[in-house]
Amino acid sequence: MKAQMQLAKALTLLSLLAISASTLPQDAQDALSHVGVNLGGWYLIEEWMFSNGQFDRVVEMSDLPQGVVMPPLLPDGMGENWYGEGDLINKIATKYSDDFAVQVIEAHRQAYVTDEDIASMKSANITNVRMPLGWWAFVEESTKSESTLITDPAHSDMRFVTITHDALIGEIQRFKDAGLNVLLDIHAMPGGSSEGSYSGIFPSTPMFWDDASLMKLGNSIIESLCNFYLNLDDELRDSITGITLLNEPAHNMDIDTYKPIMTNWLAGAIDIYRKKVVEGGKDGLESVPKLFVNLIGTAMSDQDMLDFFHATFTPSELENWAVLDIHHYFAWDGGHNGCYEEDSCSFQCSDSATEEGLDNIKGIVRDGAESSHSFFFDNGTIPLVSCSEYSLATYDTSEAACRGQSILDAMFLGQKKSFKDQGLFGAFFWTWKMPYGGAHENAWSLKKFLGLGS
Ligand SMILES: *[C@@H]1O[C@H](CO)[C@@H](O)[C@H](O)[C@H]1NC(C)=O
Ligand SMILES: *[C@@H]1O[C@H](CO)[C@@H](O)[C@H](O)[C@H]1NC(C)=O
Repeated sequence: MKAQMQLAKALTLLSLLAISASTLPQDAQDALSHVGVNLGGWYLIEEWMFSNGQFDRVVEMSDLPQGVVMPPLLPDGMGENWYGEGDLINKIATKYSDDFAVQVIEAHRQAYVTDEDIASMKSANITNVRMPLGWWAFVEESTKSESTLITDPAHSDMRFVTITHDALIGEIQRFKDAGLNVLLDIHAMPGGSSEGSYSGIFPSTPMFWDDASLMKLGNSIIESLCNFYLNLDDELRDSITGITLLNEPAHNMDIDTYKPIMTNWLAGAIDIYRKKVVEGGKDGLESVPKLFVNLIGTAMSDQDMLDFFHATFTPSELENWAVLDIHHYFAWDGGHNGCYEEDSCSFQCSDSATEEGLDNIKGIVRDGAESSHSFFFDNGTIPLVSCSEYSLATYDTSEAACRGQSILDAMFLGQKKSFKDQGLFGAFFWTWKMPYGGAHENAWSLKKFLGLGS
């Protein structure tokens, strides 16, 4: 069984290398198939990335709005902080006007990821970008030529600016022109589908899993995403190499209540993808975008993830297009985290001052990185496993997280090596840039870490 799997894995890797050999830089060929970076904070706004040095918690706080600025039109904020994208837009619309709210978001979207950024990604040997999007990219209004303000169906004080399909096509083209492939990733469903500010409606209660009509609306969003992909020109379609139907579904919600509802809905959403894109599309199996099925330990156990995969996919689907995608963060890994505070972490940042201390830290990092996806590889039945989010953060408050170069280097190299050694299909750094993130920028911006600017 094990030997068969190893052979299957080797064959998969060989065929992937054959497909990508022409497009990958030389040194990436012995790295992962997808060397990726996220485009967080762009088409999906999270408050902590815009806290402008005033707050340092990575996790959203329901009693502390950490969002401060929204350049270029609100470079100093609006005199009032915000909790998440829906709250930000509602607050701008209420204080100024609906039109201005659209302008602020549009200006941000147009300014945030520059052509220089894309050239820098290319120079850093990135092959794939993961693009987080909200459900507001795949609604009826998204097919209009101008973006418009829409309201969350379950929360009247949460508003969003649609992402038009024209805008999305323009962005995919920019990456394609630079030779970068794209993973489209839905981060938020109507009503809110996770307990996190990336769900859009934070700090309100996520309602998606409590309301059959919202989940039905979610199906129509998945259908619209599939149609969007299928209607792209051949060239652009080829550059979409991955799709995620929902990021971190039901994160931090009551597992007993929501796990069965979430997995049931997700299996249905996967079936829409299977019928429309895999079976109904024009692509041969080898060029169907990989379906990165993102699951999270705060919503189900590792064993339940394996069981879900076996219940949902055939062995041939697992071999060809279904990817088990699990994020890995040291910042929340109690056994392997590091900080400046005494006794609250597995190691002290200041231990890196001596060679012995640094070696010890490197060992802890290696241990944490080596075990990141081992549960799934040990099972031996899931050939395609990926990590669509990881960072260099050793702790979940950035002022207390290690900032020294030797530890950041150990985090970067340790994870890179272990992801390769474990045989991950892809790994995506979270995130490309965080110019308004204050202390977060050190460990969460790949651009900053690589010395390519803010
Ligand atoms: C990118 O690849 C080049 C050429 O192989 C290599 O010299 C460089 O160090 C790589 N850059 C990164 C950030 O990995
Ligand atoms: C892998 O996981 C599946 C699903 O839980 C299980 O049925 C199977 O026995 C496991 N295989 C191994 C080798 O552990």
